[in-house]
Amino acid sequence: MLSKSQARLFFLGGTLVFSCVFLYLTVDSIGKIPEQTRSVNITAEVKRGKHLFDKNNCMGCHTILGEGAYYAPELTKVYERRGPEWMKVFLKDPEAMYPNQRKMVNYHLKPEEISDLIAFFKWIGEMDLNGFPPKPDIQANQTSASGSAAKSAQSAAQAIPAKYTALCTACHQLGGQGGNVGPALDGVGSRRDAAWIDTWLKDPNAVKPGTAMPQMPLSELERQELASFLAAQK
Ligand code: HEC
Ligand code: HEC
Repeated sequence: MLSKSQARLFFLGGTLVFSCVFLYLTVDSIGKIPEQTRSVNITAEVKRGKHLFDKNNCMGCHTILGEGAYYAPELTKVYERRGPEWMKVFLKDPEAMYPNQRKMVNYHLKPEEISDLIAFFKWIGEMDLNGFPPKPDIQANQTSASGSAAKSAQSAAQAIPAKYTALCTACHQLGGQGGNVGPALDGVGSRRDAAWIDTWLKDPNAVKPGTAMPQMPLSELERQELASFLAAQK
């Protein structure tokens, strides 16, 4: 049995020890922030992007680092998920890239604002977040699907054009991998020839008024590369 003064000593001693532990852990955590957030990568662009993100209240619909509203996708890893090319086209006209779905506001962002936002998303995506957000379980399927996409491209004896991966995968499947907003492009070469695909890519709406496929910024060469790649998918 402790006497009254022993109990007091026990209480004070315990409080002191654990306060010290708590203080040490706090200082330790704060000390890790610059490293975990890769603070050396915070450029003027990233800061402007963060400012735009706050000013436009993007968190009114999105979460980032798990904070915000649950109406629209979590954006911490959006850079890794979508890539800069796709985001550039998307932020210019969000609705075009998600036809017939929930609406994201078109902020009519200037090109330099778009690149600031992309820099901000790149920076935040590269933070060390101890594994947040966890990768979805479907990852395993996707890996195998990408294997077969690579195989089907190989059978066409052509490498997948970079623009295809950057822009088209979001909406089209090929070899089982990709989005399902547009039709799967396996075998598209038996329906369409390179010339048709080239014309289509130049201005989808001119070929088929009211189509949900957006017009994307592609150079002549990129269009031709995509057209001959797809025409070979038979
Ligand atoms: C009114 C709600 C709303 C606001 C505000 C909003 N968004 Fe979105 N955003 C969406 C929705 C909804 C989607 C998903 C697209 C869809 O389903 O149409 C989306 C998608 C996105 C995507 C693509 C995510 C992905 O994984 O494909 C990015 C990037 C994005 N928003 C950035 C922003 C930025 C930057 C801002 C602020 C400037 C912003 N959003 C403000 C609703 C919103
Ligand atoms: C935002 C979604 C979206 C993106 C991004 C997109 N497409 Fe499409 N695409 C569609 C939709 C939807 C259709 C169906 C159009 C229709 O029938 O009105 C389509 C149709 C097509 C067709 C015609 C297929 C057929 O069987 O007739 C081709 C070819 C095509 N897309 C190629 C591409 C290429 C190449 C890219 C990348 C540069 C791309 N698409 C990016 C949505 C998209």
